[in-house]
Amino acid sequence: MADITETSEWTALADHHAALAGRHLRELFAEDPGRAERMTATAGDLLLDYSKHRATGDTLRLLVALAERAGLRERIDAMFSGERINVSEDRAVLHTALRLPRDAELRVGGRDAVADVHAVLDRMAGFSDRVRSGEWTGFTGKPIRTVVNIGIGGSDLGPAMAYEALRDHARAGITCRFVSNIDPADITGTLADLDPEQTLFIVASKTFGTLETLTNARAARAWLVGRLGDEKAVARHFVAVSTNAERVAAFGIDTDNMFGFWDWVGGRYSMDSAIGLSLMIAIGDGAFREMLAGFHTVDEHFRTAPFEANLPVLMALLGVWYTDFFGAQTRAVLPYSQRLSRFPAYLQQLTMESNGKSVRADGAPVVAQTGEIFWGEPGTNGQHAFYQLLHQGTRLVPADFIGFAEPFEDVQADGGGMHDLLVANLLAQTSALAFGKTAEEIAAEGTPAELVPHKVMPGNRPTSTILVPKLTPSTLGQLVALYEHVVFVEGTIWGIDSFDQWGVELGKVMAQDLAPALTSAEPPTGLPDPSTAALVRTYRRLRG
Ligand code: F6P
Repeated sequence: MADITETSEWTALADHHAALAGRHLRELFAEDPGRAERMTATAGDLLLDYSKHRATGDTLRLLVALAERAGLRERIDAMFSGERINVSEDRAVLHTALRLPRDAELRVGGRDAVADVHAVLDRMAGFSDRVRSGEWTGFTGKPIRTVVNIGIGGSDLGPAMAYEALRDHARAGITCRFVSNIDPADITGTLADLDPEQTLFIVASKTFGTLETLTNARAARAWLVGRLGDEKAVARHFVAVSTNAERVAAFGIDTDNMFGFWDWVGGRYSMDSAIGLSLMIAIGDGAFREMLAGFHTVDEHFRTAPFEANLPVLMALLGVWYTDFFGAQTRAVLPYSQRLSRFPAYLQQLTMESNGKSVRADGAPVVAQTGEIFWGEPGTNGQHAFYQLLHQGTRLVPADFIGFAEPFEDVQADGGGMHDLLVANLLAQTSALAFGKTAEEIAAEGTPAELVPHKVMPGNRPTSTILVPKLTPSTLGQLVALYEHVVFVEGTIWGIDSFDQWGVELGKVMAQDLAPALTSAEPPTGLPDPSTAALVRTYRRLRG
């Protein structure tokens, strides 16, 4: 595998960066006012305005050349066709198959993957209809009112984010809660006010071997059996989502009440698999399938659109541009929608577990920086917290602003035009970040000379604006697919395997090894290092 930083395309970008880095967006717009119109692209319902980036037509041509040099076209084809591109785990990467329409064709390992996907979707739909209609009852015959999803990482963040995003579509009188943390406060707080007779637990774990999930599931089972006084209640109140039927059975959940998926779906790419069962119960199977269709729209765009007009490709190449040429450390994601409050957290796993790698897929060390650090909060809350640093700090923080033209129908408080104010804030921020305010402009307002430097807004801070007609199941699917493919393109440029996560394993094993030392009556032995040993002693003393 060639080192991408050794290619002529990389060198051309480095030279181009040297020429462009000192130029201000004010100049780029003054020289080329048409860039606002030209530097937009659409995919499905998503419109991307990338004109406020420190990039010109030349930049994009050079970035696209880099993508071609990295073999992006072949990699896209390889992923969609089911080649085993997750090399360190020897697996295909086919989250895109989860949203193929029923009449599509795709065979994986000799099986009809589309038929398998739709068989599970149909079973999920049947089950969720029964729960929603009250036909599926708890052990004492009462309908389900609360679904508690127990999972962590990809088995939690996706459905939790999407449930919050689409809660206005949850109209069956069933609410969802999500438990993930091994901190007992999570499960205790979640169960505190629940009626066990009307609570359904979904234990969601791809491997069904995750400590946090199994521990929380055991606690939930003990709570349920304790309250209902009969082990047989478990069968009516627990279902599982997993790829591992044996472990589900060993846990005591009837595999008739298990919804499966496949090893070719990565955990952080699984919210549109059976991992989304809680979401489907909340919003119904029709809305869930609308979400899948939204994913598929962007998959098709990504698979077929020329790179110059391809949203995930453009966003990823700009990510590489700032990460590797401007030295940017992070990317802010700023949804102007309270409903997307969990979207940055969701993206953190998607992007950072995928691309936080320092060796390439062939095991050689990477040379360039990889793995953007994603973070963010919904606007306008972020404006009153950390935007000061975005505007006047010393760091370059490229940001994605996500806005919606229409509010929800049932937003009652919008009489005062709150939604328009929300969007006005988004537009004001991206304009201020790009163009800033000069010392001359500030002085001309009569500002005392000693205050002028404090008020200068440097500008030249790059942003993408993603404008969407409305937050719906379909557009949520489109947004998630957009970022999934951004991750893929960046990983391809960096030459890494975006689909493994070996870096999380060591800590898991060490925690299991350490646990006995915290509670044993004997003096702790065999601790991994002197600092940890001292902390264990202190913990034991404080715990009493
Ligand atoms: O620890 C990381 C991880 O393996 C994630 O990749 C995954 O989403 C999460 O744990 C949960 O895993 P599982 O679904 O197997 O419980």
